[in-house]
Amino acid sequence: MPQASTPQAALSAVLEHIGKEQDRYVSDLQEFVRIPSVSADPKHKEDVRAAAEWLMGRLEQAGMENVTLVETSGHPGIVADHLHAGPDAPTLLVYGHYDTQPAEKSDGWVHEPFEGALEGGRIWGRGSTDDKGQLICHINAAEAWLKSGGGLPINLKMVFEGEEEVGSFHFAEILDKTGDRLRADLLIVSDSPMRGEDKPAITYSLRGLSYFFVDVDGPGSDLHSGIFGGTVWNPAEALAHMLATCKDPKSGKVLIDGFYDDVVEPTAEERERLKEVSDPDAVFLKNTGASALFGEEGWTPTERTGLRPTFEVNGIRAGYIGEGSKTVIPRTAHAKVSCRLVADQDPHRVKELVATHLKKVAPEGVRVSVELHNLGHPVRADPDHPMFVAVEKALVDTFDNRPALLPEGGSIPAVADMQKRLGVVPILVGFGHKDENMHAPEESFRLKNLFRGTEAAARIYGEIAAQKRG
Ligand code: BES
Ligand code: MN
Ligand code: MN
Repeated sequence: MPQASTPQAALSAVLEHIGKEQDRYVSDLQEFVRIPSVSADPKHKEDVRAAAEWLMGRLEQAGMENVTLVETSGHPGIVADHLHAGPDAPTLLVYGHYDTQPAEKSDGWVHEPFEGALEGGRIWGRGSTDDKGQLICHINAAEAWLKSGGGLPINLKMVFEGEEEVGSFHFAEILDKTGDRLRADLLIVSDSPMRGEDKPAITYSLRGLSYFFVDVDGPGSDLHSGIFGGTVWNPAEALAHMLATCKDPKSGKVLIDGFYDDVVEPTAEERERLKEVSDPDAVFLKNTGASALFGEEGWTPTERTGLRPTFEVNGIRAGYIGEGSKTVIPRTAHAKVSCRLVADQDPHRVKELVATHLKKVAPEGVRVSVELHNLGHPVRADPDHPMFVAVEKALVDTFDNRPALLPEGGSIPAVADMQKRLGVVPILVGFGHKDENMHAPEESFRLKNLFRGTEAAARIYGEIAAQKRG
């Protein structure tokens, strides 16, 4: 491969390469989406591994080196690198996840969830936008630099995990096993939505998560509600009562003692800046399909998702909900509850606060247990970091639009882990869209963003190298 004479010439060759490979990018992603790598479902354990192996093959083909499968007590991680840009060039770590949420055709899919159908300029399928289509942009970009740009302008490392959608429980094992191998200056993650059609975004914060199982035990067995009704606390009602005390139905404030203690209040400047890029209430209303919005008083919907913590009941199960009726007082009741957290809330502390609250309001005669199921720490990056400027320029050049700086409400637990363990500066640049149905039926990914995401990633690598050169 002849070395291009200037960085500009190299980039032109890279972009030309990307333009020519579009068909292959699409068929590759189709192959990837066809592997049902559902991390939550033990039945798909081998499929998750198959996706990991597919990824290894793709990384080898792209010219990445030291492609390694890292075993964990759960699903494996994949690590690769290419470290030939010299000791003065910056080192960039790319993270993504190759596992997906579950999907069944009967959930309301029109397209088969694991076929990767192409229609209307999109690829349809579970994992297409979250996160297979986004992570593959980085492999395509690395390949373009290696095959047509005379080599990568930065030292590049990649880590992909297969447990993000179940809380990244064993991600620490990947970090333990790889030691210093993943150390880098900067972390790039493409696993979030853009601001809108043709409007890129740089995400500067992610919420954390504290997810727990709440179990309420009452009488020694299910009871006849005629013989015993009116004599003991019904666990289903006790649970409903307890959960209802957690949030004010008018103000939407969480009523758990200490819940807001560690919340970092945004500056007036941050709120002002956010106003310019906030979606109007009407857009949220339409996107939710609900008949009214509800949330914490004093904050806009964008602020509620980006800057404020929440308490949510994700599911409740108790008593008889089969065919017809059954007059029974159930012995137990169960709920799955989670809180989205913002800096500097700690998921363990929040779990303790919730447990203390629920036990305090539990009526006499029921036993309550609250167990932490999974957790993620909130992430906050510094939008004034010089590397943001480099990424911004790459996005402007790709999308012809300035990126919006956005806080996001979703969680990617591994990011805070890497921030802490590897000392990396995280920059989140997603190529997805809010209407691409992450986690819902009919997930899709715009093909134009497969191409532009690849271009943006390639430009980001170039700009980061240039930034360092000064
Ligand atoms: N890609 C999402 C996270 C995300 C969503 C970031 C929207 C920014 C905007 C990720 O795959 C995800 O779904 N994470 C889970 C994590 C949980 C299982 C610990 C989430 O947020 O629910
Ligand atoms: Mn994701
Ligand atoms: Mn997800």
